[in-house]
Amino acid sequence: MENLYGWHWQDFAELGSTNDCAVKLSELPPSPRFAVTAQSQAAGRGRRGRSWQSLEGNLFMSLGLEMEQRRWGELVFVVSLALLETVRSFKPGIDISLKWPNDVLVAGGKISGILLEKGAGMYIIIGIGVNIASAPAVSGSLLYHSASLAEAGIKTDRITFLKAFLQQFNCGLERWNRHGFAEVKDLWLQSAKGVGSEIRVNLPRESLNGIFKGIGDDGCLLLETAGEIKKIAAGDVFFQQG
Ligand code: BTN
Repeated sequence: MENLYGWHWQDFAELGSTNDCAVKLSELPPSPRFAVTAQSQAAGRGRRGRSWQSLEGNLFMSLGLEMEQRRWGELVFVVSLALLETVRSFKPGIDISLKWPNDVLVAGGKISGILLEKGAGMYIIIGIGVNIASAPAVSGSLLYHSASLAEAGIKTDRITFLKAFLQQFNCGLERWNRHGFAEVKDLWLQSAKGVGSEIRVNLPRESLNGIFKGIGDDGCLLLETAGEIKKIAAGDVFFQQG
């Protein structure tokens, strides 16, 4: 157990899912802000019931923090921006972009995933996986092409990355608290992939094609289809190229 930039941090040799562990911890929080990591994760979970392949050397972390529920929709943008800024701090000129709602892409491949889950009381659990050492091989179960920091020429390890991330995330939270979501949204859009271009969005029951017009003040994706703007709260985005 250690204090890392205001976060009470526990690292485990092996866990089923760091999110499960953090949800449990939130019942009796060790500190208002806490972080759980695991060297190996046997049952990592992704969004929409998918699994998260947890390869050796990669980072599996879950953060617990108290927050009003109305802010949770904006939080994911603060987290993905902090991930982007962390990667950039290791390699400033890297080809990196953000994909709605919460993916970070390096050279078009997904290097991290974020899974927000409800903890006890007002706790939100922020589960983050980062492909530090390797990326899962392309297979039918993967929606998107994956990438790793190692492939992108960044030599780091999960703990070094965790420390750098927590510092960026603290700054991101501070910026959001001070200046509100408008600034987060502007920064997010500056690095977003595909704004103004044709995309496909897969929803649970249908698939929509249209022009990606940006995000709304509530973080919804704005899609122009047949001359009207549709607001999409959740879905999987596919770019026409790349
Ligand atoms: C996604 O589908 O993109 C989200 C993936 C989130 C994976 C991380 S790994 C650490 C934490 N523990 C889990 O079980 N899932 C998240």
